[in-house]
Formats: sequence, C-alpha cells, structure tokens
Amino acid sequence: DPAAGRRIALIPGDGIGIEVADSARQVLGRLDERFGLGLDIDEYDWSCERYLAEGAMMPDDGLATLQEYDAVLLGAVGRPDVPDHVSLWGLLIPIRRAFQQFVNLRPVLSFEGVKSPLADAEQRPIDLVIVRENNEGEYSQIGGRFNRGLADETAVQEAVFTRRGITRIADYALELSAERRRRLTSATKSNGLVHSMPFWDEVVRERADQHPEVDLTEEHVDALAAKLVLKPESFDVIVASNLFGDILSDLAAGVTGSIGIAPSGNLDPTRQHPSMFEPVHGSAPDIAGKGIANPVGMLWSTVLMLEHLQADEAAALLMSAIKDTLRRPETRTADVGGTASTEQVTTAVLDRLA
Ligand code: NAI
Ligand code: MG
Repeated sequence: DPAAGRRIALIPGDGIGIEVADSARQVLGRLDERFGLGLDIDEYDWSCERYLAEGAMMPDDGLATLQEYDAVLLGAVGRPDVPDHVSLWGLLIPIRRAFQQFVNLRPVLSFEGVKSPLADAEQRPIDLVIVRENNEGEYSQIGGRFNRGLADETAVQEAVFTRRGITRIADYALELSAERRRRLTSATKSNGLVHSMPFWDEVVRERADQHPEVDLTEEHVDALAAKLVLKPESFDVIVASNLFGDILSDLAAGVTGSIGIAPSGNLDPTRQHPSMFEPVHGSAPDIAGKGIANPVGMLWSTVLMLEHLQADEAAALLMSAIKDTLRRPETRTADVGGTASTEQVTTAVLDRLA
C-alpha cells in the first residue's frame, strides 16, 4: 500500500552529485506538501569523500540499512583522487546486485529547447527507452590476469548469461513495449559472440512468442549504433545486455543533446528490494562547486522514482515542470545552451509545483 509511507534513502555522493541532490530534496519537499505523499527521506554521506576518511564508500551494514527503504535516490560518486573502480564496486554495483536490480531503465526523449547535435532533429522527435540488463552479462568478476610483467601477460574476462537473467529482462522489456508503441528491438551480436548472443536471441524470441502484440526486431549492436544516430525516431523500446545497453544508452542520450539531462532507474520489478534512481552523469569534477550543474538528470530520475512509488500525479507534474523550464533559455543551464545556475533552475521548477 503506497499510502502506508514512502521511505527514501538519499545519497548525494560527490561533486555535482551533492548539488543536484540538493535540488531533488527541495523538489520532493514541495511535492510532498502539495500531494501529501508521506515521504520519509533520510540522507547518507556515502561517497568517495567517506572512502578517503574512513576507508570504505559505505559502512559494513550499508546494504542492510538500505533494505529498509522503498527507494534509493543517488546523485553521483567519483573523485579524481579515488580510482573509479573503488566507487563503482564499493557502492553502485553492490547495491544493483544485492538488491537484484536487474533492469537498468534509461528513457531518452527530445525536449523542446534542448538542441540535438543532429541537424534536422526538430522534425523527428525521439521517444525511446533502453532496457539494459543490469546484473550479469559482460560485467562479471569472473576471470583473471596471469603472467604479469612477462611477454605472455594475459587477461581473461568471462561474460555470464543465464536463462533466468535473459528471461526476466526480456519479459520486462516486452511488457513495457506492450504499454508503449509495441516495437521492441533486441541488440545482438550473434555473428561475433557465437555462444552468448545466439542464446540471448533464442530466449528473447521464446519470450516474445508470449507477446504476439509486440513486434520484435533483432539488430547487431554495431548497426544499431549507426541507426540510433541516423534514425533515432524509429525506436520504441530497446533491450540489451549489460555492456551493449551501457554504450547504447550514453549514445542515445548524447543524440538528444546533453548527458546532464539523462535519467536512470535500477529496478527490482519484484519489489522485494528497493530500486535505485540516479542521473546518468557522474560527479563532473570539472564543474563541481561552481553551482552550474544541470539538475534535470537528477530531477527526471526523481520522476522515475515517484512513478515507481506510485505517486503518478506528482511524477507527471514534475515532468511537465522540467519540460517547461527546458523550453525557456533563462531557465536552462550552460550545458543546454543557457546561463542559469542550478539554483535558478531549481527555483523555476519549484514555482511550477506550487
Ligand atoms: P561526468 O558525467 O561526470 O562528466 C562528463 C562531462 O559532462 C563533463 O564535462 C561534465 O562537466 C559534464 N556534465 C556531466 N553532468 C553534467 C550536468 N549535470 N550538468 C552539466 N554538465 C554536466 O563523467 P566523467 O567526467 O567521465 O566522470 C567524472 C567522475 O564521475 C568519475 O570519477 C566517474 O567515475 C564518475 N562517474 C560516476 C557515475 C555515477 O555515479 N553513476 C557515472 C559516471 C561517472
Ligand atoms: Mg555508462
């Protein structure tokens, strides 16, 4: 019962993560006032900053702490003086895996006012969703490195594909397609990866047989990358393995204009564990502390979180406020061609939620 309360763990992280989390906190406060959402938000300082001070991104019982929440909202983690694998494997990947957040949901939309690098983008608006497998595939810890320092130095990295893993991501993508424009594109590479990708294709086809209303197309990921640039408007839902989905979703976000606006959800659709919502961008050390980060990626991630928490009215209002601020040059940040600060964009969004 969503009305029983909505517990949210807010993890601002590092760099601009802290700045955009501040924006999200204010927006959630305003929406709660307006709609009586019953939000209960606790904040955690888990970050590279904490790693430097205490030797770990999060406490030993961090995952047990988060398990008590309905959702996790995360800014971004990363610092130039901390290796990226520490922040990734010390916080983000343990959360995604322990909580079986097997869907990485990456919606991609054209916005009025956000200039796409594509010449005639206004004539063909993009509205697609990338459904990326988030728990297995190419990002596994299986493998090793040997003969270090010798001429025969060798690294082996295994990819892991399971029937269960492919089935659940395919089912999620098919159900989402059925609610949208009923077109599903599956990213494959069965001509190069001769074991894993034919298996992926087989299981996706089997699941698609259960959804005759959805039109399934398979595309090799290289050709699909080209098509995402040449004809992005032709896609509805794209389902992809962990690595392919990671690359395709940044590509698709780039095609719409800025990484600063792209959102993501790491979902456990079974709701046994909290789902986690975060902007696609990182901690942007090059602009951190200047107050000019675009908060839209974080606020759109907040929309995805509100939808997950079944606060649909609040989600829709926030989304329309975001669109409205992007439409006006005076409420756009520099990465999307404006001069506004994070605070000015936030204030403009808050005004539209009143
Ligand atoms: P990044 O996304 O932080 O920055 C890439 C470029 O985009 C920079 O020029 C930055 O200024 C700009 N940018 C990013 N978000 C923006 C926003 N909201 N508004 C305006 N401009 C924005 O990626 P980068 O530089 O590769 O990584 C920086 C750090 O962030 C690294 O430590 C990396 O590991 C970490 N990172 C963390 C992620 C996460 O927490 N999920 C995801 C990606 C990177
Ligand atoms: Mg990525």
